[in-house]
Amino acid sequence: MPDEQTTTPGGDTGESKAFSPHIPFETPGFFLRGSGNLDWGMKNRLSRIFNPKSGRTVMLAFDHGYIMGPTTGLERIDLNIVPLCEHVDVLMCTRGVLRSCIPPTVTKPIALRCSAGATILKDLSYEHVGVDIEDAVRLDAAAMAVQVYVGGEHEHDTLENLTKTIDAGNRYGIPTLGVTAVGREMVRDARYLGLACRIIAELGAHYVKTYYCESDFEQVTAACPVPIVIAGGKKLPELDTLKMCYNAVQQGAAGVDMGRNIFQADKPVAMAKAVSAVVHQLMPPADAYQMYQDA
Ligand code: 5RP
Repeated sequence: MPDEQTTTPGGDTGESKAFSPHIPFETPGFFLRGSGNLDWGMKNRLSRIFNPKSGRTVMLAFDHGYIMGPTTGLERIDLNIVPLCEHVDVLMCTRGVLRSCIPPTVTKPIALRCSAGATILKDLSYEHVGVDIEDAVRLDAAAMAVQVYVGGEHEHDTLENLTKTIDAGNRYGIPTLGVTAVGREMVRDARYLGLACRIIAELGAHYVKTYYCESDFEQVTAACPVPIVIAGGKKLPELDTLKMCYNAVQQGAAGVDMGRNIFQADKPVAMAKAVSAVVHQLMPPADAYQMYQDA
């Protein structure tokens, strides 16, 4: 009598073990907020960006030069940024810097800055989509980043940049990061940031970058159906940055996309490690700061 558990419908007991018919085929969910219905390529890229164990990410942003030129700390990307790459999860940069300064042996996922066309000398919100989707594919981008100025003079154009990029990315399985750029006339409070993040998510961005705000930040993350990462903003004392990261993550952020507060720190590698400990292990800021000082 053949073993019931290893018999295939065809009755061949010799080969049936390999089919393990008694083990149910599992259909697990996906770890990332709002991303369960995406296709395999999207999910795979998002799993390179967000650590599937912690569900969070530390992105290093060093795309500032595309509007600001040689920003403090970014004068020599080959010297200042390349040594940081191994200590973060994702690199956010322009295609110019990627091709000229980042060795292709660095295999960290790339969030490619794809909006362009403005500088600090003129209206920052006057952007267009500055990277062809084929070039993003060629560079193996894990995500494309587009600046959005909700309430800004060129709000309509920047929202169009976002939707065009999302459509192009959807054709190739590349997620889009919508960046809430806050014009000088806007207040960085939960009401404004919540509005901007929600609009960006509703238009189809796969994750959103915004600023942290002291009051009601948890309402910003709660009302955004996709993951939010926070920018660091202007340089703060290191302990304050670590506190901001800790609070943001405790209040629902899925990590950081941070530039100046890492590469302008006195010890950038130590700062990248300390931020990573806070984001992924929820290390208390005082302990992470001690780790930073001891480095
Ligand atoms: C500009 C960006 C920058 O990459 C980002 O703001 C840089 O991060 P930080 O503010 O931490 O220096 O997206 O909008």
